Amino acid sequence: MIAPVPQDYRGQVLELGAGNGALTLRLAARCPEARILACEINPALARDVRRNVAAAGLGDRVRVVADSAENILSNWSRGEGESPDFVISGIPLGNLPRERVNSLLDKISAAIQEDGMYIQFQHSLIDRKKVRAHFPNLRTLPVLWNFPPAVIYYGRKAVQPNLAGRRSGLA
Ligand SMILES: C[S@@+](CC[C@H](N)C(=O)[O-])C[C@H]1O[C@@H](n2cnc3c(N)ncnc32)[C@H](O)[C@@H]1O
Repeated sequence: MIAPVPQDYRGQVLELGAGNGALTLRLAARCPEARILACEINPALARDVRRNVAAAGLGDRVRVVADSAENILSNWSRGEGESPDFVISGIPLGNLPRERVNSLLDKISAAIQEDGMYIQFQHSLIDRKKVRAHFPNLRTLPVLWNFPPAVIYYGRKAVQPNLAGRRSGLA
């Protein structure tokens, strides 16, 4: 899921719906210079992520917030914080009403850098058209060995991303 994030990436990653932090820790280990803001709406899970991050000695560059993705993204689009190059989400879009999915995608699209990448884990293709409407440069990767089977969306706003890339590896 996180393979497109270069190992020497030095910018900002936003993770939405961090669960217990399994992916957060893998990402932090893969990209030792990246800064990660992980949000999780369930306060008990957010506490677990915070504890796991502290135990791994990652507290200086991984911040965990017990809040909804919608709130975090709204703050971000008001200019609070550096725009992320990567937004990585495990939020189950398929369980949300259509308007809420579109509103979330609007906010992700507004927060992310122009040539950034949105990475979304899902168990169905039900929201693919909505994702593509926001991120027209979309690759859909089936993950058949996952149980239950899953797909990962890799979306960009630009059909031809700006390969000049401010940070490492954005091509
Ligand atoms: C499939 S789990 C993510 C698993 C995680 N990637 C991992 O590696 O463990 C989805 C998570 O998204 C959280 N979530 C659902 N809606 C959310 C929202 N609107 N904002 C933030 N987190 C949300 C759920 O509480 C759940 O923990």
